[in-house]
Amino acid sequence: MSVTVASGTLSEVAADIHIVMIPPGSAPLTGDAAAADRATGGAIAKMRTNNLFAGRAAEVALLPVTGRAKAKRIVLFGLGETEKRTLDAFRTQMGNLSRRLRDAGGGSVAISIEGLDGLDPERAGEAIAEGFVLGLYRFDKHHTRSSDRPTHTVGDVTVVAGTTRRAAAVRRGVERGSIMAEMQNLARDLGNEPANLMTPTIMAARAQQLAAEVGLECTIIERAEAERLKMGSYLSVSNGSVQPPKFIVLNYRGAGPRGRTIALVGKGITFDTGGISLKPPADMDAMKGDMSGAAVVIGAIGAIARLKLPVNVMVVAPCTENMPSGSATKPGDVVYAMDGQSIEVINTDAEGRLVLADGIAYAKANGATTVIDVATLTGAVRVALGTFRFGIFCNNDRLMAEMERAGDLAGEKMWRLPLDDEYGELIKSPVADMKNTGGAPAGSITAAKFIQNFAGDTPWAHLDIAAIDMVGTESGLNPRGNTGRPLRTLVHFVAGRATK
Ligand code: BES
Ligand code: MN
Ligand code: ZN
Repeated sequence: MSVTVASGTLSEVAADIHIVMIPPGSAPLTGDAAAADRATGGAIAKMRTNNLFAGRAAEVALLPVTGRAKAKRIVLFGLGETEKRTLDAFRTQMGNLSRRLRDAGGGSVAISIEGLDGLDPERAGEAIAEGFVLGLYRFDKHHTRSSDRPTHTVGDVTVVAGTTRRAAAVRRGVERGSIMAEMQNLARDLGNEPANLMTPTIMAARAQQLAAEVGLECTIIERAEAERLKMGSYLSVSNGSVQPPKFIVLNYRGAGPRGRTIALVGKGITFDTGGISLKPPADMDAMKGDMSGAAVVIGAIGAIARLKLPVNVMVVAPCTENMPSGSATKPGDVVYAMDGQSIEVINTDAEGRLVLADGIAYAKANGATTVIDVATLTGAVRVALGTFRFGIFCNNDRLMAEMERAGDLAGEKMWRLPLDDEYGELIKSPVADMKNTGGAPAGSITAAKFIQNFAGDTPWAHLDIAAIDMVGTESGLNPRGNTGRPLRTLVHFVAGRATK
């Protein structure tokens, strides 16, 4: 399925479904909506006067074509009040609409955006592409029975945008939105795959494949090399696993050798059993998604490369399983990160911060001037913020403002949590520079304080995505399973740096 843009009127475009936007109120229909009314023998006007279609936001009705039209069906989409229309709401509505059309028989789609006032045309194009590409995503490759898959599919989508000038703006948005959404779907694929089929080795192969497709440098640091680099914190997590750890590094050099480098560091635990500090069985299967941070940063750099943004970006994704075994790290063990800092491992289930420590140390040692880490780090962040916002920690107010703006553009909400020194006291260790847990209170904050020890003075943001990486029920942009969030926030952030 691809999304393209046409100028002109809806009636000129051949497609199975024509979508027209219908405003609330009783003003006579004009343009594409009036033409659709003629194609349905005046049914749309009758529905409006008989209160069968009010034009409420996201209201949908499907009508047969009775007159002349290059479509088999007309779909009405309610615009709601212009003043209440937001880009976020519209993007979500497009996601819901995409599945509604699939359930109703699918086919190719042409959508007129006439009447969609109040939204920037470029952003509206981006939102439509994101709505359809993300909304129609399914992870059903392991269903061998066709009865477990949807009967119908939505084909190509054409956005009909009026004048050539308006179409050019919409096209820029559609192209950007499609690229981001496709790469978000790649991140979802990695996250949804069960841990037996998404081992560190398979993740490394997928990263290499992406690198070849979009033009990235890819280096996989194997265990022996990681030992030579003294990544003792990262490697301690892999001790109990028979799967070889893979430390993935991707580089995109869009700004040339002299540009500054943004590092995106993603937690890549392909399965988190908790290790010797074993997790209880309930919902442990969800820990196949504990590499969502790595998946999101890998997808993000893929989008950044495809968008040819003039910036330098490095992805660091330390990947390993966290397993219990006779060779696993034990509570009380002391390990050393590659920057020389020592860590007392109190709880082997607090493993994400251990791999991020070496991930961030590696990024800084290799020229990163800004570090963003993304991790399914703590269950506590779900208690603090629920599933509607991810937690963000940041040691630099300007960077924080850039992240907020990027989140607004993406429609991905965050909430800043504190990094006061007092919280750092909770992870002081009597035997090493720090310990890897700080007890029950402020669990997300003490985790962030731990990671801050490795970021140091480098501008740094830590995104705790433990409660937003998966959803149990489909809604808006997110079908059930891994969401691939907040990939678009990262891409918008990097794009914002490009224009400076
Ligand atoms: N991967 C988990 C965090 C997590 C929990 C993600 C639930 C998604 C859903 C992380 O490695 C972990 O186990 N964290 C512990 C930390 C504790 C031992 C200090 C936690 O949150 O319980
Ligand atoms: Mn854990
Ligand atoms: Zn984990």
